[in-house]
Amino acid sequence: MKIKQIKIVCLHFSNPICAFLCKGQRIQRNGTNAKKGMVINMNNTIKELYERRSVRAFEDREIGKEEKSAIIEAALQAPTAGNMTLYTILDVTDEELKKKLSVTCDNQPFIAEAKMVLIFLADYRRWYKIFEKHCSDVRRPGEGDLFLAQADALIAAQNAVVAAQSLGIGSCYIGDITENYEIHKELLGLPKYVVPAAMVVFGYPTAQQKERKKPTRFKASDIVCENTYSKEKADRMEEMLSYHTGGLSGRELSEWIGRFCKRKWNSEFSREMSRSCRAIIDDFCK
Ligand SMILES: Cc1cc2nc3c(=O)[nH]c(=O)nc-3n(C[C@H](O)[C@H](O)[C@H](O)COP(=O)(O)O)c2cc1C
Repeated sequence: MKIKQIKIVCLHFSNPICAFLCKGQRIQRNGTNAKKGMVINMNNTIKELYERRSVRAFEDREIGKEEKSAIIEAALQAPTAGNMTLYTILDVTDEELKKKLSVTCDNQPFIAEAKMVLIFLADYRRWYKIFEKHCSDVRRPGEGDLFLAQADALIAAQNAVVAAQSLGIGSCYIGDITENYEIHKELLGLPKYVVPAAMVVFGYPTAQQKERKKPTRFKASDIVCENTYSKEKADRMEEMLSYHTGGLSGRELSEWIGRFCKRKWNSEFSREMSRSCRAIIDDFCK
C-alpha cells in the first residue's frame, strides 16, 4: 500500500519530529499552523523513507551503470565531519569475493546473489598521511576519530540506500561486516586506520519482496524524549514491545522476548561482533 499522507499525532514544535514535519510543503506554502491530528501531504522523500524496507531476494537484473553511479554520487553528497569524507567505498564486483563475504558475514547466501555490494569503510588513513607529510607534531588517530569516521561512513551508506530506493532498487545492510575483523582485513586489503563500518547489498526486489510487510516501528512518542533522557519512558519497554509484536502480552510476550534474546543478543554472531569490534578499536587506536 502506498503511503500518501502523514498524521501528526504529537504536536510540540520543540520536538524535532514535529518541527521536521511542520516544515512540510503544504504547511509552509499555506502559512498555516499545524494542529494536533491534522494531516499533511507527504513529499516524495518522506514517502520513500516510509516505503523502504530491507530487500533480501533480488531479480536477476543488473543495476545499470548510470544507476550505480547515481547511487554512489548520492552517497558522497551526505554530510561528513569537517567535510573530510572520512570513508572509502569498496565496490565489490568480484563474484568469488562476494561468495566469501556471504560466508564470513554470518552465512547469508543472499549477499552472493546481490547485484551490487558496497562496503563503507571508516578511513582516516588519507588524512593522517597528509597531516604527517605537511604538519609537525601530528597526533595519532584515536577513538574520537574512529567514531567520526564510522559516523561518516554510515551516513553515506544511508544516502546510498535512500538513493537506490528512489530508483526502485532495494537494499539490505549487512552489519556482520564488522565481525571477523582479521579475516575481512586480509580479504579486503585494509591498511591501518581503515576499518569496516557497514556493508550494503543492492538489487531489484523480487515480487515477493515488494509485497513483504515492513516490520512495525516503535511509536515516535515512545522514542522521542524532550531535552533530557526519560528513564520512565524507556522502562515502558514491555508496553512498547506489545505494540511492536502486534499485541502480544503476558506469557506470549515473555516467550517472544526469550526467543528474540536467544536469536540476537545471546547469539554466536553477536558475541563474535563484540570480539571483532574490540579488535577494530585496538588496532585503530594503538
Ligand atoms: C546496522 C544494520 C545491520 C543489519 N544487518 C543485517 C544483516 O546482517 N542481515 C540482514 O538480513 N539484515 C540486516 N539488517 C536489516 C535489519 O534487519 C532491518 O533493517 C530491520 O529488520 C528492519 O526492517 P526493514 O529494514 O525492512 O524496515 C541490518 C540493518 C542495520 C541498520
